[in-house]
Amino acid sequence: MNSYNKVLDFAGEHKKYVEKISSLTELKNKTILDVGGGSGLVAHYLAEHNPKEITVLDPSQDMLDKIETNCTRVCSSFQDFISKKKYDIVVCIDSLHHLSEGFSKQEGREEVKKGLKKILTLAKERVIIIDPNIYTLKGKWIDIQENYLLRINAEFLVEKDYNELLKDYSFNLEKWRHYYVVVVDLKK
Ligand SMILES: C[S@@+](CC[C@H](N)C(=O)[O-])C[C@H]1O[C@@H](n2cnc3c(N)ncnc32)[C@H](O)[C@@H]1O
Repeated sequence: MNSYNKVLDFAGEHKKYVEKISSLTELKNKTILDVGGGSGLVAHYLAEHNPKEITVLDPSQDMLDKIETNCTRVCSSFQDFISKKKYDIVVCIDSLHHLSEGFSKQEGREEVKKGLKKILTLAKERVIIIDPNIYTLKGKWIDIQENYLLRINAEFLVEKDYNELLKDYSFNLEKWRHYYVVVVDLKK
């Protein structure tokens, strides 16, 4: 593992994400799209479950260059991403709230909501979103860091938003640590 990912991996967060994901869905022989996959640490742990193919999408080439796992890399914002194919599983880990980056507050919120709807169109079986729950102490701290210290305009959906946006789908929302884990089952 390169030094960037070694430091990022130190807290053990990515391993926990994938333990959670694999407890929710079969990954073996599946095609997986990782939206906002960054430097590929989630992909690194997903690969241990022998998926058929992993595609990591991120707008930062710098991040994609840090990926060491065998996968397809797509350098694009999710908004600009056009895919001819669908993936068995689409995951979006700690990235949904980043879809608002570069937009005004109001526009950014809409971008995140549109992003969630778009994710649903790209999955054949299941969508798994893990994103901070700002009603927890650690989730609020992430909000403060990103919006007030880094000023990147991060827009966090809350339970009410997920319930509203996913009302026509079969989904489950779990409060797990300082995150929401949202699983949408597209086969039901
Ligand atoms: C907190 S990082 C999470 C990265 C990775 N999922 C992980 O857990 O290590 C957020 C990621 O979202 C990406 N991102 C920002 N804006 C995005 C957009 N419009 N579409 C897709 N990804 C975006 C960033 O480049 C960054 O890699």
